[in-house]
This record gives sequence, structure tokens and C-alpha cells, in this order.
Amino acid sequence: MPHRAPGSPGHRGGKYLTGKAISYYRPRGSAEVRQLIDGGFQAFNAGRLSEACHIFADKMLAPEHDTTIGLTVAGALTPAGLGGCVIEMMERGLVDFVISTGANLYHDLHYALNFTLHRGSPFLDDVELYEQGIIRIYDVLFPATVLLETDAYIRDFLVRSKLAGPIATSELHYRLGLDLLERQPGCEAYSVVASAARAGVPIYTSSPGDSSIGMNIAYHELMNGSTLMIDPNRDVNEVCAIILAGKKNGCVILGGGSPKNFYLQGQPTLWEVYSIPKGGNDYFIQITTDSVVWGGLSGATPAEAVSWGKVNPGVLPDTVVAYCDSTIAFPLFCEYAVGSENGRRPRKELVHKRDAMVADLLRQAKEAQTSPREPIESEPAEIDRHR
Ligand SMILES: NC(=O)c1ccc[n+]([C@@H]2O[C@H](COP(=O)([O-])OP(=O)(O)OC[C@H]3O[C@@H](n4cnc5c(N)ncnc54)[C@H](O)[C@@H]3O)[C@@H](O)[C@H]2O)c1
Repeated sequence: MPHRAPGSPGHRGGKYLTGKAISYYRPRGSAEVRQLIDGGFQAFNAGRLSEACHIFADKMLAPEHDTTIGLTVAGALTPAGLGGCVIEMMERGLVDFVISTGANLYHDLHYALNFTLHRGSPFLDDVELYEQGIIRIYDVLFPATVLLETDAYIRDFLVRSKLAGPIATSELHYRLGLDLLERQPGCEAYSVVASAARAGVPIYTSSPGDSSIGMNIAYHELMNGSTLMIDPNRDVNEVCAIILAGKKNGCVILGGGSPKNFYLQGQPTLWEVYSIPKGGNDYFIQITTDSVVWGGLSGATPAEAVSWGKVNPGVLPDTVVAYCDSTIAFPLFCEYAVGSENGRRPRKELVHKRDAMVADLLRQAKEAQTSPREPIESEPAEIDRHR
């Protein structure tokens, strides 16, 4: 087949791009969905999802617990239109920080820049799609020009922003969000990155080189001689400092992948590396299709996380894994949370507190150096292997 650049002019997508535009669905707290989850979701994974909704709405969001909540996002969720759920949760203060694959943030930019992704079918001829210059993410279709124009926006932003030297991904995404808000007024309703900047929610990426955002940062260094580089150490310390500052800590893990561990490793970083015993996560909710039997971290249960000091052994009843496709379960979960009594909290706006929290981490770590380490308990806690 002769080489052609995907999305090169002359390729229009024809019949493939006639499906409805994918939009960001915003949960509104539907009473019917709450009734279904409370009354109809009784056993198996429906039961687990119902349990997850209750742990989140009744405990994690309870004002007296003041839980610092991290959301981790893996799997192609923004292409599927789930960014609206994330936006609603951030705006309402129901999520305090986010750890996402770079891909979800990159594809979120298409919505911010007003490009259209279309509903389609997973059963198409991919050679023909290639010839037509169409990209397929399972049943989501869009012209390859969307990639090229989104990449051009990122590169222009990098030049315009004059960002230089080592920075955290939270800073990169915050600045990107501010740029979107300025150049695309109103886009906060259609973009997780823009909405997070407005709501003060820091967004981290656990593997910054592994997305088209990272690819364009690499271009900026090679072609423009930029000194900008993502410093994962800052991300590790910021996430750790956010967890340390939390009165209680809890997470909602969508999928698995590296965002899951990047969140969970915060507790071991505290006790194992900085000698600050925080006691482990207080709440753990995971919605995933990953199974435990392969031994990978994506499918690892909260019970296994206890052995690492990632989850507090005393709180296993407040942990749950619902084995579901998150494109189905997460919108239901969000409807439940938004419609609950605790469906709005004051936002923590952690993006503006990062330096102060890292300074506190440093202070406590230095103090810990001068005091002897607590001995590790030899008797493991009794744990329920089903969790
Ligand atoms: N152009 C880009 O920027 C681009 C595009 C695609 C992927 N990527 C990169 O590739 C990596 C992997 O991507 P990924 O997160 O899409 O895929 P993945 O398949 O690695 O999924 C990550 C995790 O989420 C789970 N998961 C996926 N879909 C799910 C669903 N619907 N419901 C429940 N769980 C689900 C998986 O089982 C896995 O644990 C990422 O690091 C990403 O940044 C980059």
C-alpha cells in the first residue's frame, strides 16, 4: 500500500462519520437511577456497584470525614464521552485530585477545541478506514485531522506558555487548562482539563511520555531546543503530600493501569521511604474489568493492598471492587453521588496548595529522620480475601 499521511487532505470520511456526535454526558442526580441502584442492584456485581455508591455517598462524602478523594482514570473514557462525569464530580467538590492516563487528557482536548468524535461501529473495515483517514477507538470514529490539529494546538501552547525546566504534570495540565479557558471561552463545560483548572483540581499523569501530549513535549525539546521536561519526582512528592494532608483518604479507581498504582503508592512512599506512618487508605473503590488471578496490579484487590500498607487493615468493609465496564458503571455511580444528600462539598482547590503541602511533607520527613522507626507488626491482620 502506498504511504500516505493519515488525515492528509482529500480524505473526508464519507459514510463513516455520519454517526451522532459523542458529547460529554453530565449526571444530574436522577432519582430513578438511585432507586434502581438501591432497589434493583442487589447481588453479584450490581450488588458491588450499589455498595460502592453507598461507601462513596454515605461515607467518603460525609462532611464529618472530610475525605481527600483521588480519582484515577484508565481505559479510553474521554473518547467514550465520560469526561462529563469527571467534570461534574470536580465542579461539585466530589473529587479533589485526578490521576489519568495521558491519552484521556489528550482526547479531552478534542472536545475543548470543538472537534467532533462520532458514534460508530466496532465492526468496520480498518483498511478502508485507513484509506479514508479515519481513526477508530473501538466504536468511536473521528478524522485523523483531529489528531493533527490537536497536536498543533499543544505545540503552539508549549511555545506560547514559555514553560521551561522541570515541572510537575499538575503544573502542565493547570497551565494547559488556563490556556484553553482563555482561548476557548466556555470550554470548561466540555473539557476535563479546562474544568479542572477552573475548579482548582490538580491532574497528574503517571506515565507522561506515553501519550500524544508527551509526544509533542518531546518534539518541543528536539525541534525548538526547549528545556521543558516533566519531572516525575515532583508528581510523586505532590501526590504523597496531598495524601499526607488528608484527614481521611479515599480513591475511586476506574480501570487499573499505572494511574491506580500511582495513587496507591502514596501511602508506601510515606511509611516506607519517608518514615511517616499515615496508616493506609481509608476508602477504596475500584470499577474494573481486570481480574485478580493474573497477579497484576490492575486486578489486585484492596485486601492485597493491605499487605503493602496501601489500605488500612481496619477498614476493609469500606473497600469494594465492582467488576464492570466503567463506561456503564461510572455514569450510574455519578448519578447516585450527585443525587445524594452529600452531592456537593466545598472544593479543596488543591492546585493552589501544592507548594505548601510539599513543604509540610519535607518538614515531617525531616522530623521522622530524627525519631526511631516504629517496629513492623509481625502478626498480620485478619483479612477477608474476597475484598
Ligand atoms: N494518542 C494517545 O495519546 C494514546 C492513545 C491510546 C493510549 N495511549 C496510552 O496507552 C496507555 C494505555 O491506554 P488505556 O488506558 O486506554 O488502555 P489499557 O487497555 O492499558 O487500560 C488500562 C486499564 O483500564 C482497564 N480498562 C480499560 N477499559 C476499561 C473499561 N471500559 N472498564 C473497566 N476497565 C477498563 C484495563 O483493563 C486496564 O487495567 C496509556 O498509558 C495511554 O496514555 C495513548
